[in-house]
Amino acid sequence: MIPVPEKRVAEFENMGFGMFIHFGLYSQMGQGEWIKHFKNIEDEEYNKLFETFSADKFDAEEIVDIAKAAGMKYITLTSRHHEGFSLYDTKGLSDFDAPHAPCCRRDLIKEFVDACHKGGIVPMLYHTTLDWHVKEFNTDFPAYLKYLRDSVEVLCRNYGRIGGFWFDGNWSKPGEDWREDELYAVIRKYQPDAIIVNNTGLEARGKLGDPEIDSVTYEQGRPEPMNRDGMSKYIAAEMCYTVNDHWGYAADDINYKSPAELIETLCACRKIGANLLLNIGPMGDGSIVPIQKDLLHCIGKWISRCGECIYEAKPCDIKGEGKDFALRDGKKAYLFMHGLTPQNAGRRFTGVSYKVKRVRCTDSGEEPDFKNENGTLTVAAPPFPYGASYPVRVAEVELE
Ligand code: GLC
Repeated sequence: MIPVPEKRVAEFENMGFGMFIHFGLYSQMGQGEWIKHFKNIEDEEYNKLFETFSADKFDAEEIVDIAKAAGMKYITLTSRHHEGFSLYDTKGLSDFDAPHAPCCRRDLIKEFVDACHKGGIVPMLYHTTLDWHVKEFNTDFPAYLKYLRDSVEVLCRNYGRIGGFWFDGNWSKPGEDWREDELYAVIRKYQPDAIIVNNTGLEARGKLGDPEIDSVTYEQGRPEPMNRDGMSKYIAAEMCYTVNDHWGYAADDINYKSPAELIETLCACRKIGANLLLNIGPMGDGSIVPIQKDLLHCIGKWISRCGECIYEAKPCDIKGEGKDFALRDGKKAYLFMHGLTPQNAGRRFTGVSYKVKRVRCTDSGEEPDFKNENGTLTVAAPPFPYGASYPVRVAEVELE
């Protein structure tokens, strides 16, 4: 028996595609969010970034607009990363936060959550559990855990509805008792509809964690189909992925993925019902890197022309060949056909044990010839009209 998802989990799955944002003091160095660790930068030196942090160009409304145009339904922003600096007003728990940064003096999480609410995007918050700034992390772990819980409580109680919390860092002390139940109890108390995620990291993708967790994570991988048979509750899946090779801004990382690769990745996630959480790393002043914005624009164009079905349509019994696959939403099935050229336009899908009324390309409205025999549907997809080309073409199939 596959358990029925709770409402918050079902809603999370239906959002399908979200934006991940890594932004912090490290963004000013432009060498990724782990630079303090990799370069062994002493606190005294690193804290100079606190003095210069302005976030002058951090424009939450613009970010929300970019996410919406990309077809994203939620945004997960780093409220605090491993460096220990908070983008929010910690209400006296620490001075190492954006409202205390002399050139900033703003609560960026407030701006972010307000802009999301206004724009109809679900705000989610990444929060580190590992902390390089707070001494107690290594000297008095129970005191540190209380600080972490109190920090999360501040986020739960001061910004209105938060769609979810995305924790990251428990993998840094695998032997420790993180008292996860106490942390999650804070969320369940103040934000009962929030999704709880705790990244299992690169070495343990898709691993189930504490029973309160609502979704497994696949950091930079390819999600595997989940076997939910017999689970005590339905757990969603989300893969986080970044546009180049870093999460935080890295000026010298030009190893960007192509729009085709990103769109195929989004499709590969939806193929098994997982969400894609796609990361961008704004620059030190908070502005969005132009190429990152352009990549998101391409994905948004693909979704609006071809892939509007990715939110509601779910994995089904219809199977494609190679990377091709199908999703289903009631009486409609959607065929995802990769890399179409006039030479390889004939595509076959099996498991179609229904009468097919009509097949229609979602981008052009053309109705290709098709044949449906013994459960195999063969579609002769037309070439793209001159002036258009999409890495994945979607055909909507009306089933009887
Ligand atoms: C890793 C890294 C971290 C990044 C995260 C995103 O756990 O430690 O820097 O935020 O992955 O998935």
